[in-house]
Amino acid sequence: DVEQVAATGALPRWDRVEHLVVEAHARYRDHAAGDVADYIPVLAAVDPALFGVSVAVVDGELHEAGDTGVEFSVQSISKAFVYALVCEAYGHETVRDRVGVNNTGLPFNSVMALELNDGHPMNPMVNAGALATTAMMPGGTPAEQWENVRTGLSRFAGRPLELDGVVYRSESETNIRNRAIARLLESYGRIETDPLEVVDVYTRQCALRVTARDLAVMGATLADGGVNPVTGERVVSAQVCRDTLAVLASTGLYERSGEWLFEIGLPAKSGVAGGIVAVAPGKGAIGTFSPPLDSAGNSVRGQRATAYLSRALGLNLF
Ligand code: DON
Repeated sequence: DVEQVAATGALPRWDRVEHLVVEAHARYRDHAAGDVADYIPVLAAVDPALFGVSVAVVDGELHEAGDTGVEFSVQSISKAFVYALVCEAYGHETVRDRVGVNNTGLPFNSVMALELNDGHPMNPMVNAGALATTAMMPGGTPAEQWENVRTGLSRFAGRPLELDGVVYRSESETNIRNRAIARLLESYGRIETDPLEVVDVYTRQCALRVTARDLAVMGATLADGGVNPVTGERVVSAQVCRDTLAVLASTGLYERSGEWLFEIGLPAKSGVAGGIVAVAPGKGAIGTFSPPLDSAGNSVRGQRATAYLSRALGLNLF
């Protein structure tokens, strides 16, 4: 009946969401494709069988199956929410001038993308643009900026998020490439503060611990015009949600963003620890966790489960 829903463009079947979440988990649980990230040493040790699927609806309801309470590092998914916080502070025009909104067509940690674009990071979802965005976080010191990131993302999640010290240290010891990207940004005059301190705040933000359930609630806050549907707290403005979702649609899955939008039709963001959040504006969000990734760094089972739910619930925007 998934095909039927897709063919008729029927309205979302929220009455069946509980059943469909369980079905999405069961369908892809034994799907073994992909490899866990190993360029951050500690991520290589994660159990590849972990798999959680969670849906949060804008009315505050949660539906889940599998390992939805298991914590993992948010990684690049943090970029979407830090971008929203910085837009909330300065307005999207300032951020857009500095960071951009276009896809690079290149991997998330590309140095060449920066060189090809006169040091312009192009968008806030690749590492260069995320570093430039984190550099703009309100706060007088890196410690204050980090605290504002942590509390800001916690408001999206509706609970206090904590740093995973093991992931933070593992990445800090090996993130030479991000330090190089930050230095390059500095050389082009795109970062005004100490680039290595910016990398440190960014590395911490990537090491915040979340669950698939948190991702669903964080995404549903963007779906709900900036109000967390579980806590009822306004986190950012409706305009900032629109800005963030537009950027996610074009860049959230890196160089695979076009294929993702074509097949799944929802703004989304992935992280190398295996999380994905996909947002259905005005309706809710899907949060998934499964560590094995494709070659662009996107969770394989997460993409499949999200594709299934997008079709079954009739969420594709197009
Ligand atoms: O900076 C990095 O490389 C990581 N902290 C985050 C990369 C990431 O999650 C890419 N996403 N799929």
